[in-house]
Amino acid sequence: MTINVRDAVEADLPAIVDIYNQSIPDGWSTADTQPIAVAERVEWFRKHNPQKRPLWAAEMDGQIVAWIGLTSFYGGRPAYDATAEVSLYVAAAYRGRGIGRELKKRMIAHCPALGVTTLLSMYFDHNGATRHLNEQLGFQPLGHLTEIAMVNGQKRGLMIGALRIPPLNG
Ligand SMILES: CC(C)(COP(=O)(O)OP(=O)(O)OC[C@H]1O[C@@H](n2cnc3c(N)ncnc32)[C@H](O)[C@@H]1OP(=O)(O)O)[C@@H](O)C(=O)NCCC(=O)NCCS
Repeated sequence: MTINVRDAVEADLPAIVDIYNQSIPDGWSTADTQPIAVAERVEWFRKHNPQKRPLWAAEMDGQIVAWIGLTSFYGGRPAYDATAEVSLYVAAAYRGRGIGRELKKRMIAHCPALGVTTLLSMYFDHNGATRHLNEQLGFQPLGHLTEIAMVNGQKRGLMIGALRIPPLNG
């Protein structure tokens, strides 16, 4: 498998949003229930930066097929500086080929250089793919907020998984 992973640029936003929107109908990935517009994600995009909160686009077959990004936790309050939340979305046609695992592994490996020592993964408790992938990569389930979302007419909960990552000079 050859994927080219690079920092996303704003021109990638339509592809990034399209991949995100592909996950909405399944009802197991995101709390959005309707497709979002590119304009709604511009502010989110601009909060990323390669030094601390990267957003990567993964290319294959000449197109963007997945993305992974880190965002600050709890509004970016300073005490949480070394904690980041990871988001990962693979285009529907490219899932199950190891792309998700490869991207998450690469981001984990990059965390010490970013100063991130706790990586959080928030996912619905019925998102079996993310649970499985997180278990493979060593995330521990730290919290389970039961029945806090209504998705496609069903009550769903939110899992909080965490991976502790040794600092560069720790
Ligand atoms: C979750 C997601 C990122 C995984 O990426 P992927 O490229 O499809 O996963 P991989 O091919 O790297 O598979 C990693 C492992 O998860 C397993 N897996 C993949 N899809 C699965 C599913 N639906 N249910 C259970 N396990 C699954 C794979 O079998 C593999 O485990 P294995 O090595 O034991 O066989 C991808 O399915 C996706 O984008 N889903 C929609 C968006 C989403 O849910 N993002 C997370 C939001 S919190």
